[in-house]
Amino acid sequence: MATFSFPSFSSTVFPLVFWFLALSAKPISSFSFQDFQKTSVDSEIALYGDARISNDGSSVTLTPPLASSFGLLAYNRGFRLLEATSFSTDFSFSISPDNGDGLALVVLPNGFASKLDSSVFGLSRKILFLGVEFDTSMDENVGDPNGNHVGIDVGSLVSASVRNLSSANLLLNSGVKLRSWIDYNANSKRLKVWLGKLESSRPNDPILSYPIDLSKMWKGEEVFVGISASSGNSSQTSSVYSWSFRLRSVPNWLHSQPVDPRRERGEPLRMQKSSVCPLTVLAGVIFSTGCLALMAFVFLFVWAIFVARHTTVAAAATEEEYPKFPVDFRYQKIDVVDTKDVK
Ligand SMILES: *[C@@H]1O[C@H](CO)[C@@H](O)[C@H](O)[C@H]1NC(C)=O
Ligand SMILES: *[C@@H]1O[C@H](CO)[C@@H](O)[C@H](O)[C@H]1NC(C)=O
Repeated sequence: MATFSFPSFSSTVFPLVFWFLALSAKPISSFSFQDFQKTSVDSEIALYGDARISNDGSSVTLTPPLASSFGLLAYNRGFRLLEATSFSTDFSFSISPDNGDGLALVVLPNGFASKLDSSVFGLSRKILFLGVEFDTSMDENVGDPNGNHVGIDVGSLVSASVRNLSSANLLLNSGVKLRSWIDYNANSKRLKVWLGKLESSRPNDPILSYPIDLSKMWKGEEVFVGISASSGNSSQTSSVYSWSFRLRSVPNWLHSQPVDPRRERGEPLRMQKSSVCPLTVLAGVIFSTGCLALMAFVFLFVWAIFVARHTTVAAAATEEEYPKFPVDFRYQKIDVVDTKDVK
């Protein structure tokens, strides 16, 4: 009887499959700034408005302690949010205890620089932006719930989704360093935002989870990611201490959406380094091997069951026909007579 247990088999093959899926969601581009020393990041970041590198590069001060100041830190290489493009970013920041506008992670279309102005986060109505705002002022004009909230802004400062942070026991403008994680998943078409203390790991539950299809928002046009702040009427200062970003492309067969024509035409993603990663090929080979092994195992499994059942039935039948216990055989001497001799 073949002996193998399905759990041990599944615990070998299924992680392999998920490992392959994880690899297939290949990173297109990523960056990670633990500090902003001018020499190392000069070519990668762009500063707008009042934003300055400070403390020998250990932070970027977006807004100095002056009213009506605005600053934007942006990554200066663009990318395209196609049907299958997901991204994750996380950054640490602090906001001084004043009632300024706070700070926002923003995604901006190409050509935004000439349209920035002195409004909240520098975002004029002329810019089709996505913003995740960490807002410390209660601006009734845009329907803010209070002076301590996180909101998702889609082309407007009137947040499409908002969360009162006071009920989550978090205070944005305490001057304490906080950390936020923002994730856009191209499969689920969902933008999620987490917030925690600097030293903590990402909490389980997001502060906000908002359904949105970013591939439709800019229709695959080039966009840029940045962190923006404005002080409003106060002398609020906002700083960024670290920032990382990762763009990845989910394989088309992983979701049921139609394939993006741009990908079909083989138009490369702007930040993409190589279209076929050797690791993906290796993963493909391993995955195929895994599939073959799975099929072989299923075949063996069915065969083993069939043979086992067949053998058992045969054994049962044999037991019925022949008594289990030994039977005495009597040997008789048989005289063989040669008939030829008799004649
Ligand atoms: C936000 O939450 C705090 C604490 O639970 C509560 O006192 C306050 O009324 C809430 N604000 C709004 C606008 O819901
Ligand atoms: C900022 O100050 C101006 C003039 O003092 C005032 O009209 C406006 O309401 C203030 N804005 C906020 C958000 O407090």
